[in-house]
Order: sequence, then structure tokens, then C-alpha cells
Amino acid sequence: MSKQKNRILTGITTTGTPHLGNYLGAIKPAIEASFKTDNQSFYFLADYHALVKCSDAARVQKSRLELAATWLACGLDPAQVIFYRQSDISEIGELNWLLTCVAAKGLFNRAHAYKAAVDANLAANLDADAAISMGLYCYPALMAADILLFNADFVPVGSDQIQHIEMTRDIAARFNHLYNCELFTLPSPLITSDAATLPGIDGRKMSKSYNNTLPLFANSKDLQKLIAKIITDSKAPGEPKDYANAPLFKIYAALASAEQSEQLAADLGQGMAWGDAKKALFELIEHNFADKRERYLELINKPQDLEDILHQGALKAREIAKDMMAKVRDAVGLRNFNAGTLVASNLKEKPKAKKSRWISYRENDAFYFKKIDENGKTLIQSIAFKDAKSAFLAQQAIDEGKCVADGNNLYLDNKPIADL
Ligand code: TRP
Repeated sequence: MSKQKNRILTGITTTGTPHLGNYLGAIKPAIEASFKTDNQSFYFLADYHALVKCSDAARVQKSRLELAATWLACGLDPAQVIFYRQSDISEIGELNWLLTCVAAKGLFNRAHAYKAAVDANLAANLDADAAISMGLYCYPALMAADILLFNADFVPVGSDQIQHIEMTRDIAARFNHLYNCELFTLPSPLITSDAATLPGIDGRKMSKSYNNTLPLFANSKDLQKLIAKIITDSKAPGEPKDYANAPLFKIYAALASAEQSEQLAADLGQGMAWGDAKKALFELIEHNFADKRERYLELINKPQDLEDILHQGALKAREIAKDMMAKVRDAVGLRNFNAGTLVASNLKEKPKAKKSRWISYRENDAFYFKKIDENGKTLIQSIAFKDAKSAFLAQQAIDEGKCVADGNNLYLDNKPIADL
């Protein structure tokens, strides 16, 4: 039997204009991977996730259009890749709920993004959950649904997303265990490291949230202006430059061939002016993206073509998704009534937990209780109580942690009530 193809799945949140960091860190490697014959790729616009971060409807819409055009202009072949919008796949929303019902709340409490938002609130003396939506809190469950619906083996992501993949594995394993099945594949992250290190024009990581990006398809004039703003040191023309740490050089090297970057390094080492290096970067970007930009503008101006391509992609994705959801619905007991009599329960007989327990008893007109461990050994022995009610209340007080222990005794309101 031939091995099933590796399923590679990734999404990009549609909140901003695609930039060079998105291209080098995510889009380019994903497109290259999609042409390997042993891969089946699923790439999508994470427009449901966008709503968590952005409530500007016009911006979400513009970003979806730009991202769709970007993927295609950069060479994504819809015949090779199942390419779709998250919001076109209603099964994602359905699976999201079923996963939410098995996912542990504590897992979500520990999610980095949620914790960071809580910490920021506390630092600002606000309520811990101020302005935190349920969308932000449940973000990882939706992401798990994206991934598990298609049983992805590998998920290319930036390092900030690794925890979400771990959470996905956790949720998948819980589901499989609880429903006694092997429906969900546990995915592995494929970490795209360059993205994290590509600097923006201010030297920090290139990111739409820092507003320091080089948009992929800016027109030449805008691009030139942005490149002119890239920070450099103040070394004059003729002085050797410390190129290795310069954002300008790092951006150039990320895009150029090895020979091209060696050449620029040598030139800067020998005193090339920063202005000339900026010209070299501009030309490199123009050279690399001129054709893609033309295609991009064509696509942006034909939204109906984009709509058709994504619609076709959604049809393909939903064929797989419907099949999977039928199995998942069956696993959890959402079955057609005609399916026959009840099948066996998925719940396994739980082994009796070995626990300590309370025993109350009466001896010589007095009432007592004691706590014994699983072997019958006494852990706590009460004093004699004159009636059952006061014995019970004392026992309850111990359970509720209202007693004070000192040496060998437990006290309630300063009165000893039991020996330890
Ligand atoms: N959370 C991802 C990000 O911000 C985007 C995303 C949503 C995603 N669903 C996904 C990535 C599923 C990979 C797989 O980058």
C-alpha cells in the first residue's frame, strides 16, 4: 500500500497587509513545500481568527483580499494546494464546539497570549479579564479545529505558535482517549525560524503590530521611501561599516543569493555608503517582486476570480471535512436514529480510585469518626462527641479546612477535636 501523503496545513490571520516577513517566513517556504510530491498542502486564510484581533470590518475584508492575491501572485497553484477561507468551512465551527467540550479549561488558562493579556491588565491595575473576549480565550480551540479537521501531520508556524500546537495535541489525545478512538492525528509544528529574525525598518522584528514592515507589493515610490527609513549607524561614506548587525544588511541577505550578499558585505566592509546599500536593496526587491506585483495587481482587480478560486478550494476542503465530521459526530453519539440499537458505551470502566475515606461510628454512648487510608490505617481519630450532629459538623470542618493542626491534634475554635 502506498504511504498516505504528509498533510501540511497552515493559516495566516487576515488582519494586515502582507509584508516581506510573511513572505520569507511563511508564504515562500509553504509554496515550495506544496510542490513536493509526498505532501498534500492545506493553506487557508484564518479570517475567523482575525476577528479576535480586529473588529474593523473593512480592514478584515481588505486583508482577506490582499492575502488571497498574495498567495496566488507568489506562485501558489490551486491545483496543488487546497486553498480556502476558514470562514467558508462551516465544519470548522462545528468541530470547534465538540473540541471545546473535551478541552480542559486549565489548559486555556495557561495559554501564553491569554496570560500575557491578564498580566498586562493586572500591571495596569485593571480587572484581570478586562477587555479580554471569549474569542481570545478560546482562540486555541478554534486553531485545534482548523488542524484536526484535516488530520494535519505538520503545521508550519512561527515559534510564537508552538504552544498552540501542543494544546492541539493535548485536545486530540483527550478526545481519542475519551471516545476510545483514533480519529485525530497528533500534529507536529514545523518551525519557520527566519521569520522571527527578519528585522523591520526600525530594527525590531518585522511585524504588522510594530508598523515597521516592508509591504510586499508597495509601489516603487512607497517602497523607496520605506527603505530610506531603515535605521543605520551614522558612519560616513568611505568608513568601513559593521554590516553584520545592520538591519539593512539582514533584510538584503534574507532575500539575496549567497554571492549577492557576499558582494554587499565586502562593499560595506570597504566603506560603501549606506545610501548606496539602500539603493541595492531597493533594486533587489524590485527585481524579485516586479512580476509578482504585476500579477498581484491583476488579481486584486478581479475579485470575482479570487472568489471563484477560493470557492473551488472550499469545495475540496469540505469534501474531506464532511467525511471527518460524520466520523466525529458518530464518535460522540450524535447519530442518526435509524443507525440501529445503541452501540456499546465508549466509557471505560474506571478502576476504583484508591482513596482515604471517613468512617463514623458509635461506641459506649459516644459518637466518633475517623479517616482511614486504603489499607485501613487510621489517619485521623476524633475525640468522643455526645451526639451525631456535633461529630458530623466537626468532621465537615476538617474537610473544609477550618481546623488548625498543632503537633498531634486538630483544633476547632480552640477546642481539640481529633488526634492525627
Ligand atoms: N494563529 C496563527 C497565527 O497567528 C494563525 C492560524 C490560525 C493557524 N489557525 C491556524 C496557523 C492553524 C496554523 C494552523 O500565526
